[in-house]
This record gives sequence, C-alpha cells and structure tokens, in this order.
Amino acid sequence: MSEFNPATNEWYHPSKEITRGARVKDYEKLYAEADADIEAYWAKQAKSLDWFKPWKQVLDRSNAPFYKWFVGGKINIAYNALDRHIKTWRKNKVALIWEGEPGDKVVLSYWRLWKEVNKFANVLKGMGVKKGDRVTVYMGRVPELIITMLAIAKIGAIHSVVYGGFSEQALADRIEDAQSRVLVTCDGAWLRGSIVKLKDVVDEAVRRAPIVETVIVVKRTAHDVRMEQGRDYWYHDLMALPIASPTCESEVMDAEDPLFILYTSGTTGKPKGILHTHGGYAVYTSTTLANVFDIKDDDRYWCAADPGWITGHSYIVYAPLILGATSVIYEGAPNHPYPDRWWRIIEDYGVTILYTAPTAIRGLMRFGDMWPSRRDLSSLRLLGSVGEPINPEAWRWYHRVIGKENCPIMDTWWQTETGGFMISPVPSVSLKPGSATRPLPGIKIDIVDEHGESVPPGHDGVLVIQQPWPGMLRTIYGDPERFKKQYWSAFEKQGWYLTGDTARRDEDGYVWIIGRNDDVIKVSGYRLGTAEVESGLVSHPSVAESAVIGIPDEVKGNIIYAYCILKAGIQKSDELKEALKDHIRHEIGPIAVPAKIDFVDVLPKTRSGKIMRRVLRARAQGLPEGDTSTLEE
Ligand code: PRX
Repeated sequence: MSEFNPATNEWYHPSKEITRGARVKDYEKLYAEADADIEAYWAKQAKSLDWFKPWKQVLDRSNAPFYKWFVGGKINIAYNALDRHIKTWRKNKVALIWEGEPGDKVVLSYWRLWKEVNKFANVLKGMGVKKGDRVTVYMGRVPELIITMLAIAKIGAIHSVVYGGFSEQALADRIEDAQSRVLVTCDGAWLRGSIVKLKDVVDEAVRRAPIVETVIVVKRTAHDVRMEQGRDYWYHDLMALPIASPTCESEVMDAEDPLFILYTSGTTGKPKGILHTHGGYAVYTSTTLANVFDIKDDDRYWCAADPGWITGHSYIVYAPLILGATSVIYEGAPNHPYPDRWWRIIEDYGVTILYTAPTAIRGLMRFGDMWPSRRDLSSLRLLGSVGEPINPEAWRWYHRVIGKENCPIMDTWWQTETGGFMISPVPSVSLKPGSATRPLPGIKIDIVDEHGESVPPGHDGVLVIQQPWPGMLRTIYGDPERFKKQYWSAFEKQGWYLTGDTARRDEDGYVWIIGRNDDVIKVSGYRLGTAEVESGLVSHPSVAESAVIGIPDEVKGNIIYAYCILKAGIQKSDELKEALKDHIRHEIGPIAVPAKIDFVDVLPKTRSGKIMRRVLRARAQGLPEGDTSTLEE
C-alpha cells in the first residue's frame, strides 16, 4: 500500500496435516524437475486431459514470440470440463452451487450443467453461430453466464465476456473490436438490493455498435425491458424450442484454436483483446489450480471473483470444472444485507477454499471481527488472494480471523495475459505475509534492470518471464504488432516477456510485487489505464486536456485523481465536476469514476510533452516532487 515495508522475516509454516495431504509436497524438487525440461513437464501435465488426437510437438518456438503449444493436438476445453465427467461417477456430482443475492438458490450437477450447455450450444448453432465466430457476453453473475461461455466453447466459437460493470461505450468498443454479431445478456443484475439495468446498457451499446444482429436475454430481475422484434429473444423461450436438443457433439478444435478474447487495459486508451486458446490454456489453468489450491473431490471451492474477469474465466469456469470440482458462486455484494453474507455462505455450504482479492478482505475487515466470529468458518482449509499486493495487516487478519491460523494463504500473482497463476505458493511452502513467494514449477522469472541484468536482493527491478508457458496469451486480437511491441520488445534479444510490474526479491528468494510500472492503475483490483480514463474525460465537450493518476487508498488499493484543463470560456464549477463523473460512468463504468477531479490551468510535462504523473502524484500526496529538471510547466 502507501509505504512498501515488507515483512521479510515473518514466517508462517504450514501444518504437517496440510503438507501431508498436499499434491505438491516438495516444491524444490518439482521446480528443479520442471526446470530441467519444461517441455517434458508440460507434456506430462497435458496427459491428464482428454485429447481427440495427441500433439506432435509440445512447443514450437520457430515463430517467437508467437509460440505454439501442443502442436497438432486436437481438443475441446468444454469437452474436458463436462463431457468427460459424464462418463464417470462424477456425472451426479455437484458442479455448481449458486446463491442469488435475494437468497434464491440453484444447484447443478455435472449431468445437468452438461445438458444445459448442450441445449444452449444447439440454440447458438440454430442462430447461425459457427466455429470462429465471436459472441459477446454481458451478464451478471448467474449460472447462465457459465452455461453460455461453455456452450460457445463447445461449438468452437470465441467468447468475449465484458464485465457487467462496464457501461455502454466500453461495451460498444468491445463489440466493435471483436466484430460480434450475437450478444448474450440479462435483463438486469442484482446488486445491493437494487437492479443494475444491463439490457438498457446493451440497447445503447448496440445502437453505437450496430453490427449486432441478435441479442439473447436471460430473465433475471424480471423488470420491464424493451425487446426489439427480430433482434431480441428471451433465453428461456429459445431453450424451450425443439432446436434446443440436449445432446451436442463438441467441435474438434486444434490446440491452438482461439477460445476467448478478454479485454484488458494497457498503456493506450484502446483496450487490448487478450487471446487465449483451447489447448495450452486448459493444461495451464487445470495444472496450476490443482497444485496451488490442491483441489480434492470433497472440496467446496469458492472463487469469489466475477466470471467476467480472467480470475473467473480461469478459476471459476474452466479449471475447477476440468478438475471435476464443486464450486460455490454468489451473485451479489459481500455486505448485503449484512456484513456477514460471505461468512454465512461459508457456514451454509461448508466452503473449504476461499479465493478472493485484498480489496474485498480490507473492505470486510473494516466491519470488525464480530461478523466473521459469529459464523462457523471451521470448514475452511485454504485461503487465496489475487489482483494486487496484499498488505501484511490484511494478510494477518485474513489468516487469523478467517483462517483461524489453520489455513495457509495462497497469494497468487498473475495477469489476464498469463492465463493462470505464475508466482504463488503451494500449500506445503512456508509463507511471509505480502509475498507471492516463488514462481510455480515450469515458470522461470527474473527481476532485472533496464539492461536485463538481475538486480540484487532488496532492490527494485522489472519482473520478466524468461520461458514460454502453455497459458500465455497468443496475441492481442487483431493487433499482432502491438502484442510484439507491448510484451516482447523491451527484452527482444533475450526473448523475455515483460510483465509491466515492479518487484523485489528478498534474501530467501521470495518475490515481493510492488505494483505496476506502466500507466495502469489497480482500483479495487480492477485494472484501468490512465489513458483510457483520460480519453474518456477529453471526450466531454468542456475538457481540453486531462491527466489521471492513482493515489493509495486504505480499502481500494488505489483511487483515481483526475486533473482537467477546461476549454476556453468554460466555467469551473462543482456541477461540472459531477457532470464529468457521470460522463465517465457512461463512457467506461462506475469503477473508473475519479474520486476527485481538479480543474487546473497547466499540467506538469516534460519538454517532449509527456505528462509527469510522478509530479502530480507527489503533489497530491504532499510529498517532495523529486527530480524536476526535465519539467517544463
Ligand atoms: O500488478 C499485478 C496485479 O494485477 C496485475 C494484473 O491484472 P489483471 O490482468 O487484471 O489480472 C488480475 C488477476 C490475475 C498484475 O500485473 N496483481 C495480480 N495479482 C497480484 C498482483 N499484484 C500483487 N500480488 C498479486 N497476487
């Protein structure tokens, strides 16, 4: 958080019971084994999946950085998530336990989920969706979201899930970029007892991105929505038609065929469509989930993220189902109607693994120990954290109050681009609060200076990944040049992947992530580009120029401050500030709304015209401005 003060000498050792039961009992040994031959290691992991046809080559490096994994292999990730379990005793195992915010419940066995997916896959086919077509999905956290994603994958189409917190312009941009003709949505979503009107957002987005021909609407909140004849269809109506047959063959996909596009923020205003594939992604997510969260058949696993983000794609939808796990999913806000909602869910369903983000932990910590203490949390075995560095205070609270000092915390460092966990403990590893510990087997990293030299322990450097891995992004959709430039140009000679994070290693080789070193801000764990928010502000008719920075915040990790230069003749006023916030709410979404907007006459810039965000940050926090020799104000 604000002051980086790592707890490098505070050790937490896993109990004998945890280590004895762990899938990876000896981290060092497995790491060395994988490191000696990464291709052999990944080939061994890949064998636990069902392939229609085996691969000929594990890794093709010939066109780096466009690496290919499991070349020649034929597979379908949805087949691995569902069909293969139907042939075993898992057929009647519970796949999903879903709880709606108002308290309604749905339980789906593997059999039932498989049927629903097959039916919707046939509906999509009936609507003309074919292999390789992009389908945009904009929904709340409901079972139909998971059904939709799997159905799209099953028929070989490509899903582009847009988080339900994005607004009309952000959705329109993503539809345009992916060129989706079909969109699946909900009428609304429940959040803190009120309805988020998703269908209204869709109507406006489709007006701005008219490529969409068909909109399928899941009835969730049942408020009045406008249905456009010939374009909009109710999901339940389509699922009642004869085309919704309950059997559907999985499309035979090449291991390298695209599975999904997921948009994330980068250093320019335009969001990047991160592309993942059927083969390598299936191998990578399932292996890492098995190793880190040690999934057992009697676990009740709860990843409290949104399926609309990478954490949800990898570790709510695909990996847990591939492993045949039972997952818990909750629709709404953690503190609705009371701050013990999450703790009650753990008690009610006997949750054994809870995986969430530091911002949620800090938010719930604020309500005090009373709320978790009145619930029985004794079923918990492992805890997890993701999305941003977890500050030691939050870590200790999570460990003591939620885990009762019995549950190791898996602090997983990774990115939308990496597909799955990269730096993370496994349950048998000793922990230090705030450190993601060491890279997982098969992952080679370093922390280096700008010349690529390793920095000594205790020094900051940039985090790089030195070997390809199966879950890596394959490209930025429609923009291979940007993919090369963004991730592979800084250390082109060495062939390393640039993460965009600053990190440090301690004397024990433990990694401490400090934060982003590019123009990306993490707000409540959500990733936002300064350029994205700045172009949102400048698109308002009264703003000439703007600069956006992230300022440390107790609960959210960071909050956004925006500085705007107004166009000539525009009056500065509080009403205008509110209007600008509202504008951002519609351009991007509520998560991007600045906590504070200041009107200024000039912005600190270098002589070459680059905004010096460092100076703005120092000013905002009343800190020394540092070296301002290049400043031209
Ligand atoms: O800065 C790192 C931070 O989140 C970034 C990736 O964001 P996103 O693509 O949205 O994916 C988030 C979920 C995987 C990283 O570059 N980050 C993620 N996990 C951690 C983290 N920072 C510190 N510790 C973590 N465990």
